[in-house]
Amino acid sequence: MVSIPLTPHPVDTSRIRVDIQALQPDLVEWRRQLHQRPELGFREQITATFIAQKLQEWGIEHQTGIAQTGIVAVIKGNRPGPVLGIRADMDALPIQEENDVPYRSQHDGVMHACGHDGHVTIALGTARYLSQHRPDFAGTVKIIFQPAEEGPGGAKPMIEAGVLKNPDVDAIIGLHLWNNLPLGTIGIRSGALMAAVELFNCTILGKGGHGAIPQQTIDSIVVAAQIVTMLQTIVARNVDPLESAVVTVGKLNAGTAHNVIAATAQMSGTVRYFSPQFDGFFKQRLEQIISGVCQSHGAAYSLEYYSLYPPVINDERMANLVRSVAETVIESPLGVVPECQTMGGEDMSFFLQAVPGCYFFLGSANADKDLAYPHHHPRFNFDETALGMGVEMFVRCIEKYCR
Ligand code: NI
Repeated sequence: MVSIPLTPHPVDTSRIRVDIQALQPDLVEWRRQLHQRPELGFREQITATFIAQKLQEWGIEHQTGIAQTGIVAVIKGNRPGPVLGIRADMDALPIQEENDVPYRSQHDGVMHACGHDGHVTIALGTARYLSQHRPDFAGTVKIIFQPAEEGPGGAKPMIEAGVLKNPDVDAIIGLHLWNNLPLGTIGIRSGALMAAVELFNCTILGKGGHGAIPQQTIDSIVVAAQIVTMLQTIVARNVDPLESAVVTVGKLNAGTAHNVIAATAQMSGTVRYFSPQFDGFFKQRLEQIISGVCQSHGAAYSLEYYSLYPPVINDERMANLVRSVAETVIESPLGVVPECQTMGGEDMSFFLQAVPGCYFFLGSANADKDLAYPHHHPRFNFDETALGMGVEMFVRCIEKYCR
């Protein structure tokens, strides 16, 4: 009988997973501790202390207090090589948690409802693993713990504070736990992954008066109603139908009584798009429409317009690297969701403008365990199995890039 030699399982591959699986109970423990103490943007003091204590304990060089509450950890391999950045956001949301779990938020009205507690945990797990496996990678890994992703934005001030310098970061990766995808899938694409986020506040200044004597007034509600409708023509008639964009008026306030014509009307909204070619375009069209409609009615207006975050654009080479790693972690190309995109925004975009990189979605929903509520919902929670998968994604990306 001829014995057929088995293809040896690559030693490296099994070791990474075994070592990370050994970390899983710690990952769950850290995540639950963080979940109980959620903090809003730029107030992540307890979170930062927690992170710094762990890094200290593991002998990892780090700097605290960057852009108020941010932290950068630097872990060097055992030989020279490239510098890879790993980014994790730290902040929570002003939401009252409605989950009935032993580790529910102890901070009234504040909740980790987007999974950033998981992001901090995954980055810590990666730091822990790397500190124990320095011979396995070359160069340097910089782990960036970033405050205030949910607003007003911590990425930009961290970059301005020099976190991508000295040593200079060559490329960056990051992930978002994603309940729009089931556990066991990873969403990724090269190019635009998430949208630019812009917002506006507009006040229409008409002339109030008696609801039965409109000829003496300038009805701000009539003006506002026409503006809301006209704004929809920007996407419908000014944007290439093959491109994607959204103009949403989310707030409209005017008037006090059924028989009073409102002197002023206030509206607020948001604009989203993927293509950087639209930078400045929506602001211009919005103002043209508002000023045109107001002029035709003899009304005045004031407009505030803010570009918050640019679109999240992944570098093709880095996206390919992350995709090939995802196929190993998920153990099947079928679990890698191609062309995954959302009109949600993220200030990871500022890091990706500064250096090539890739941001991706780690599927974390598990409907069987009732862990499938959407992000920013008071009952948002995710399957903690994803924590180990996130660490494995980062570790394998590091070992692939840093050599
Ligand atoms: Ni988020």
